[in-house]
Amino acid sequence: MSETEIKAMLLDKFGELFGDTDGVKVYFAPGRVNLIGEHTDYNGGHVFPCALTIGTYAAARKRTDKKLRLYSINFEKSGVMESDVEKLEASKEAGWTNYPKGVMWAFSLRGMQMDCGLDMVLYGNIPNGSGLSSSASLEVLTGYILRDLYGFTVTNVELAQIGQYSENNFNGCNCGIMDQFASSMGKKNHAIFLNTADLSYEYAPLALGDAKIVVTNSKVKHSLVDSKYNERRSECEKALEELQSVVKIGGLGDLTEEEFEANKSAIADDIRRKRAKHAVYENQRTLRAVEALKNNELALFGKLMNESHVSLRDDYEVSCEEIDLLVAEAWKVDGVIGSRITGGGFGGCTVSLVKDEAIGEFQEKVGAAYEKQFGIQADFYVVEIGDGPRTL
Ligand code: GLA
Repeated sequence: MSETEIKAMLLDKFGELFGDTDGVKVYFAPGRVNLIGEHTDYNGGHVFPCALTIGTYAAARKRTDKKLRLYSINFEKSGVMESDVEKLEASKEAGWTNYPKGVMWAFSLRGMQMDCGLDMVLYGNIPNGSGLSSSASLEVLTGYILRDLYGFTVTNVELAQIGQYSENNFNGCNCGIMDQFASSMGKKNHAIFLNTADLSYEYAPLALGDAKIVVTNSKVKHSLVDSKYNERRSECEKALEELQSVVKIGGLGDLTEEEFEANKSAIADDIRRKRAKHAVYENQRTLRAVEALKNNELALFGKLMNESHVSLRDDYEVSCEEIDLLVAEAWKVDGVIGSRITGGGFGGCTVSLVKDEAIGEFQEKVGAAYEKQFGIQADFYVVEIGDGPRTL
């Protein structure tokens, strides 16, 4: 569906549900794909994501009372979910609305209380649960709409921080800031080289020559994603504490590989040592990958992507057999520069750098092997890198 069609669909639905469309505005915020730097963002390390041209759209208008009425075309069955802007509480029944509500709640904690309610119709074109940050795009979108409609003074970096805060404290997932930052700070045809220790960042032009970024959706979503994610995070925190007894560091991202090797015996447990090793090595790989891209060394960039996958598979243990097969099959295709799992893990998507002339063969071979083994048809997206949130 084109953006014009999505806008028309949202306005139609808005009129149907809420009477008319006078003064309604339509907004968009993107999802993201991470090229390298996985599970480093809550370890004071670097990440290298980019915003996509797919994401979440909303038609919104302020009300005169305190009611909040939210509707998603993706979750039609839930109908219009009604609540009150002065009583924002997370609940299981609230389902997807916990994300926008969490952002409104986080704004109010920063002294930006909505003085009236809101009607909003949403539609997302990121496949749900695919690891391309549909939730972060919804959080950033909500913040962007609040800023526009209520006149709150917040920067785009703050929109990312508020989104992360609400996801941590309202929705109970201890995510880092990468996804929200990639969405709120996205720039067309650029990846964002972000240091999560101090939020300094640089835009890197994605000069991929005759190659493209291909995202492969395994369509597998394992349960316990949030709890496993939180578990990894606490394993890293514990490992950091142990290391801090022997070296002066603020985060695992402060260590080079050599420093880690020299001090790793301070970590008492094998599993935690592997987790910390991933965080340290992955951060160093990310620094090297960005350098490689700057120097036009795409083959090296791809090799680092592959190493990232192996580390996430073996040391961090956030992959799964379906994703491992997609990656292993990708590696076999001539013209694949690099391929790895992307995002939080336990299913979701892989990201591959593929030469133009090999994209057809890549989809065919990887798709066939995957279907043969698991009986699932993977989806392939040759993605475009887009800008951050905007009003349509
Ligand atoms: C999820 C989280 C991010 C990041 C990635 C792993 O997407 O939301 O903060 O930790 O996993 O790199």
